[in-house]
Amino acid sequence: MSEQFKKLVAHCKEYGFVFQSSEVYDGLSAVYDYGPYGVELKNNIKEYWWKAMVHNHENIVGIDSAIFMHPKTWKASGHVDAFNDPLVDNKDSKKRYRADQLIEGYAEKIEAKIQKDVDKAKKKFGDDFDEAQFRSTNGRIIDRQKKIDHAINTMNEYLGAENMEGLKALIEELEIACPESGSRNWTDVRQFNLMFSTQLGNVAGEEGKLYLRPETAQGIFVNFLNVQKTSRQKLPFGIAQIGKAFRNEIVARQFIFRMREFEQMEMQFFVRPGTQKEWFEKWKEARLAWHKAIGSPAEKLKWHEHENLAHYADAAVDIEFQFPFGFRELEGIHSRTNFDLTSHQELSGRKIQYFDPELNENYVPYVVETSIGLDRMFLAMMTNSLREETVPDASGKESTRVVLKLHPVLAPVKCAVLPLVKNKPELTAKAKEVFNSVKFAFNCQYDEKDAIGRRYRRQDAIGTPYCITVDFESLEDNMVTIRDRDSLKQERVSVEEAKAMVMKGIDMSVLFA
Ligand code: GAP
Repeated sequence: MSEQFKKLVAHCKEYGFVFQSSEVYDGLSAVYDYGPYGVELKNNIKEYWWKAMVHNHENIVGIDSAIFMHPKTWKASGHVDAFNDPLVDNKDSKKRYRADQLIEGYAEKIEAKIQKDVDKAKKKFGDDFDEAQFRSTNGRIIDRQKKIDHAINTMNEYLGAENMEGLKALIEELEIACPESGSRNWTDVRQFNLMFSTQLGNVAGEEGKLYLRPETAQGIFVNFLNVQKTSRQKLPFGIAQIGKAFRNEIVARQFIFRMREFEQMEMQFFVRPGTQKEWFEKWKEARLAWHKAIGSPAEKLKWHEHENLAHYADAAVDIEFQFPFGFRELEGIHSRTNFDLTSHQELSGRKIQYFDPELNENYVPYVVETSIGLDRMFLAMMTNSLREETVPDASGKESTRVVLKLHPVLAPVKCAVLPLVKNKPELTAKAKEVFNSVKFAFNCQYDEKDAIGRRYRRQDAIGTPYCITVDFESLEDNMVTIRDRDSLKQERVSVEEAKAMVMKGIDMSVLFA
C-alpha cells in the first residue's frame, strides 16, 4: 500500500468516514461501515447522481426493487452459469487468488519499473523531456512493454475462451510466485461463482435457494413492463436505481474499492433496436461530463474499451479513475442488446415487449446501461480531495494543514458556526442564534471546543467549505466572518449574506448547466 493510500485509509477512520465492519471482532474482510461524515458524503453523491439521471431527464424514472429476487432471475441473466472468477490456490501458503489478478499484478510490477525509468529521465532532461518519444525509443522500456503486452493479451485470450489450463500455464510461464509464501506451487485454475446464496425459510432444498443480487440491474429488467405502463413512458426511456449488491469477491483488498457488500447506481436505457450504438455514444459523453462537473480532473479519468465482451453485450467501455493504486474501473457503460429482456421472456413464459406506435410493431427493446459503484465514487472523491498543504495559521506563521477539498455540493458539513472563544455566554448565545437561523437550510455544525485555529483545521479535515465565526463585534453589528476553506479568504458580512454565500456555493443546479 502506498503512503498516500495509507494516509487516506487512516483519515477515513480518524475522521469518521469509513470503519472496518465488526471491528471489535477484528473485522470482516471486504465489508465496511460508513461513519457520521461518510454517510453524509455518500448521500450527497447519491443525490448528485439521482438529480443528474432522474430529475434532469423527463424520460428517466426511478425504482427501488428488492434485494431478493426469484431464483430463476439469475438463471435467465446468466449469473448462475457464468458469473465466475478464475481461482487458483497456492499449495504452500494455502492462500487463494484470482488468476487474472496475479497476472495483472505481474504486469503492474513491470509497469512500475518503466515508470521509475521515466521519472528518472524526466528529472534529468527537465522541461525538454518528451515522455511519449522516450517510451517508444528506449530499448529497455520497449522490452518491458513487450512483456506486459504478452502477459495481458494472452490472459485476455484465455479468459475469453474460458481456457483455465492456459491460465495456469501462463502463471507458470511468467514465473509468478505467491506473494505470501514466495512459492510457485499452484493448484489448477478453476471457476468460482461469485453469488452469495441463502435459503427461504419455508422451502427445503434447491427449490428454496435464494441469491443476494450481484447487480441491481435485474430488478429493473423484470419490472420493465410494470414501470413502462405505470409511468406511461415511450421509448427511448430509462429506469434508474440505487441499491446494495453483493459479490463473494475472493481477493479482498484496496479498502472500499472491492467489497463483498457494496452499492451500485445503475440506469437501464431502453431503446429501439438498431439505435443502441448512437445511445451508447451519447451516454458515454454524458457520464464523463458528470464526473468532470463534480471536479474530477480530465487527466485522472480515462476510457478503457473492453476486449472481452460479456455474453450479453455488443459494446462496453469503462470510465477509469486514477486511484492511489493506479487507473481502475469506476463506471461501466454497456450496450446490453436485448439479451436480458429476451431471457426473462423465455424463462418466465411471459411476453416482455414494447408496442412501438410509430412503427406499429411489437419488439423487445435494446438496452444501454450506465453502472457506477457508489463506494468507488466515494473513494475517487476522497482520493481527489485529500491534500496536505502549507498555509499561514491564525498568527500568520506557516503551518501544515490536512484539507479535504471536496466539491461543496458533496461536503458532509456545509458550514460550521464557531464562537471566537468559548465560555463567554453572550458570544455562545449569539453563535447559537446564528446556528439556529441557518441549520434548516443546509447541514451545519456548531463547535466551540478548542482554540479557533484548531477548530478551522478540524473543519478543513472533514471538508467543510465554509466557517462562520461570531466575535464580540457581532454582538454590536450583527456581522460575522465567513471563511472559505480553499482560498482561506475571510469576509465580514451580515448573517443573511453569509447564509446566501453558503447557499450559492452548494447549489447543485449549476453543475448541470
Ligand atoms: N450491471 C452491470 C454491472 O454490474 P459491473 O462492471 O460488474 O457491471 C458495475 O459493476 C460497477 O459496480 C463497477 O464499475 C464498480 O464501480 C462497481 N463494483 C463492481 N464490483 C464491485 C465491488 N466488489 N466492490 C465495489 N464496487 C464494485
